[in-house]
This record gives sequence, structure tokens and C-alpha cells, in this order.
Amino acid sequence: MPEAVSGRRPYMVGNWKMHMTIAEARAFVEELVSRLSSAGDHVDVGVCPPYTALAATVESLDGTGIEVFAQNMSASQHGAETGEVSAPMLLELGVNGVVLGHSERRRDHGEDDRSLCEKVPAALDAGLEPILCVGESEQERDNGEMQRRLRHQVREGLQQVPDERLGEVTIAYEPVWAIGTGRSAAPEQAQEAIAFVRALVGDRSEEAAQRVRVLYGGSVKPDNAADILGQPDVDGALVGGASTDASDFAELVAAAAR
Ligand code: PGA
Repeated sequence: MPEAVSGRRPYMVGNWKMHMTIAEARAFVEELVSRLSSAGDHVDVGVCPPYTALAATVESLDGTGIEVFAQNMSASQHGAETGEVSAPMLLELGVNGVVLGHSERRRDHGEDDRSLCEKVPAALDAGLEPILCVGESEQERDNGEMQRRLRHQVREGLQQVPDERLGEVTIAYEPVWAIGTGRSAAPEQAQEAIAFVRALVGDRSEEAAQRVRVLYGGSVKPDNAADILGQPDVDGALVGGASTDASDFAELVAAAAR
């Protein structure tokens, strides 16, 4: 993933999922910042706290350059949507971006490609950086349907994004069978799928394909990160479990800086 070759800056994002109270988030951030050393100078770093800890995390990270992402948002600006949060609400908190279409939301909370087709451009229009998550299930992989699934997810998710803004979207390729299972994709599998995702963007705009950052996600840990991050099309990682341990996450950021 050397930046000098690809021109794309490495990107490491920690998805905290439903972990961290406000107090825990503050303590975590303090420890992370103290451990990051100079690696953070060469890598873009982001964290995705739960909604309740967003404001405290934004405040604690002020001046560090580390970005803060929400884990979901509504495509609407406001309305009768009990339990939802909109882009203007996130912006008011100083949030930089939003993760959209995580497989846990697709699987357990009814998120589908049709709503993502609205959410991704809504985030961009509001000035939030979207991280669009895509990935096949184990069954789809076994049935030889990985490419079909990715094609559908990437095309729908980016459908309403104008060509000239495609490069502003970050895509996270997260095979569902590798998330939280301790079983990461082999580096070659990550490379193959991510090159395919990049080619899908290239069907719309070759310039955007070269610019768009595509991350790998699924059981990234300090002991497997270097091999995965060393693949030419892998621009970084969306990290779940290992991102809630400040020492592990700092190690992962250092691995991306190499
Ligand atoms: P994991 O999660 O690193 O715990 O597998 C990744 C993700 O869900 O983004």
C-alpha cells in the first residue's frame, strides 16, 4: 500500500461498535494519542464511537487530526424517524464522517442497498465523509457469488454520487465471514476483492478509481495487519475488535505507516 506508489494516503479507522461509555471513550482517546507517536503523521486515522460518545470524542481529539465517524445516519434531514440521527445533527457535533452499510446493520437492522443509495450522497452533500461497507457472506463466497454481490452493493451505494465526487467516498470491503470471527481473509483474497471493488469504481471513472480509498475489514489484528496492508490495492483497514485496545490500535496504525 505504499503511498508513494499509489498516491493514496493510508487510512486506519477503528469501529468501536456498541462499546465505550463517555468516560471510557475519553480515557481511551488519551491513551491512544499518547501511543500513536509519529505514525499518525503518515496515516489518516479515524474512530467510530457510538452516538452517545461522539461529542466527548470530538472534544477529546480536538487538534490531534484524528477523525470521528458516526456508525450510521438517516438519509433525511429531519422527520418522524424515531431512533434515527441526521447529517445536520452529526455535523453540529463536529463529526467528520459516517460509516454506512456495515454488515451488522444490513444483517440485524434492515439496512439495504436501496437506502444506502440515498444515504451515501446525503452524507456527501452535507459535508460528511462516507465510508461505504460492502462484503459477501460465506455462502455467497462458497457459491461463487462474491463478485455479483460486490457489484450490486458498490453500484447501488454509489449510484447517486456524481462521477466527480466518487473519489471522496471511502469503501470498506468487509467479508461477512471475517467480521468478529478471528478468521481474516488471506492477504490475496483481500487484494483480489479490493482490486475488483476499485475496478467497479473504474467503470464509472478511472480517475476516481485511482483516488478512492478502499479499506479491508474483518479480524484485522497486529499479527496479520502487515501482510494485508502490504497488498497494492489495500489502502488501510476498518478495524473492529482490535480498535478498542489502544495499544493494538496504535500498533495497527504503525503497521499502516510502513
Ligand atoms: P472485526 O470487525 O475487526 O472485529 O472483525 C470489523 C468491522 O466490523 O468493521
